[in-house]
Amino acid sequence: MNEQVKIIKGNLIFTKTSNKFEVIEHGYLVYTDNQIQGVYQVLPPDYAPLPVEDYGSRLIIPGFSDLHIHAPQFSFRGLGMDMELLEWLETNTFPEEAKFQDPAYAKKAYEIFVDSLRRGVTTRACVFATVHRASTLLLMDLLEASGLVTFTGKVNMDRNCPDYLCEETQESAEETLEWIKDVKHRHYRNTKPILTPRFIPSCSDELLEKIKMLQLRYALPVQSHLSENPGEIAWVQELCPESEFYGDAYDRYGLFGADCRTVMAHCVHSDEREIARMKENGVYIAHCPESNMNLSSGIAPVRTFLDQGLHVGIGSDVAGGSADFLFRAMAHAIQASKLRWRLADDSLRPLTASEVFYMASKGGGSFFGKTGSFEPEYEMDAVVLDDKRLGHPQEMDVQQRLERMIYLADDREVYAKYAAGKKIL
Ligand code: GUN
Ligand code: FE
Repeated sequence: MNEQVKIIKGNLIFTKTSNKFEVIEHGYLVYTDNQIQGVYQVLPPDYAPLPVEDYGSRLIIPGFSDLHIHAPQFSFRGLGMDMELLEWLETNTFPEEAKFQDPAYAKKAYEIFVDSLRRGVTTRACVFATVHRASTLLLMDLLEASGLVTFTGKVNMDRNCPDYLCEETQESAEETLEWIKDVKHRHYRNTKPILTPRFIPSCSDELLEKIKMLQLRYALPVQSHLSENPGEIAWVQELCPESEFYGDAYDRYGLFGADCRTVMAHCVHSDEREIARMKENGVYIAHCPESNMNLSSGIAPVRTFLDQGLHVGIGSDVAGGSADFLFRAMAHAIQASKLRWRLADDSLRPLTASEVFYMASKGGGSFFGKTGSFEPEYEMDAVVLDDKRLGHPQEMDVQQRLERMIYLADDREVYAKYAAGKKIL
């Protein structure tokens, strides 16, 4: 018998497809190192002699992937939420992000951010840092120490931002190259670099060309923002008159899926052409419903994305979103879809609990590989939830307990957590 086989037991609940939950009451989850072997109602005899970590009647779910979060914005979440995107960037975001020039401030802020993420339901995330190389590395050191699995990016911006945050084109590219080399030397296990051109308004054509060269040289993934706000979209059309639509402005530089793994946040106002290109190029969409409400961006047509078979995950988009706790984002996704259905387009059915669960786990998780499910060969990410604080007089089955958790839980319900085969909480 392999010494490395480990077993945890509890009420297992996960999704293989978006339309239904798989439930194994008092089931066994068997894994080796960082690979799930299987889930069982009755433990196979081979495993019988092995010790079992028994979580009793607690729920065990796969870890969630937050496909879009800004680490430096955690410090001002909940503040200045009465503006739209472009004004909010100028007034709140850029002045705050400038503070990360100072490593001492960055350390203080990033410790608070990483600690919160570690205590929540997220096991994986696509993280924006700032333009600053040193503090981005500091953030990556902290994320690595936490055991969370992330793609983390030094932001690029060389135009349309205040002088104190703006990089020269050449400097932006060179700093990014040096940052990639620094990351390689650190030999992180769970913390990987991702190219992060902030969005088209803050990146010149020349900078995008240079970023593509780095993408090809180091085979890196890409994250950015897309079609979030009408004013932003009109601005992109002015800046890139030759582009057919917003996403095309990335695609012209090879930064929109196809040969590079790409995740785009928002896609609230993507038209048919943009949706078709995202599908063709395999672009991931990070749906960030709370941010879209807070910044009055709108409500993304997630039903359309799902029906057309696009990759859609959930993002918190802190600080556009105020909460890094992904159950909250899932509840917002359902609620936003209901308003959209009622007010904008009653042909697009609202999202269900199993659909948002799938998006937060297996759907978005596939950006990282085989993660977000308890099927064999998936990586071992799991969150153990204890709902005893949320008292109830009636009988409830496991699925009901989970559904309720989407709306009611916070990090007090997170009892234990495993990421990439290691217990991190
Ligand atoms: N677009 C460009 N930068 C940002 C950002 O920091 N947050 C959001 N929500 N959208 C952006
Ligand atoms: Fe964002």
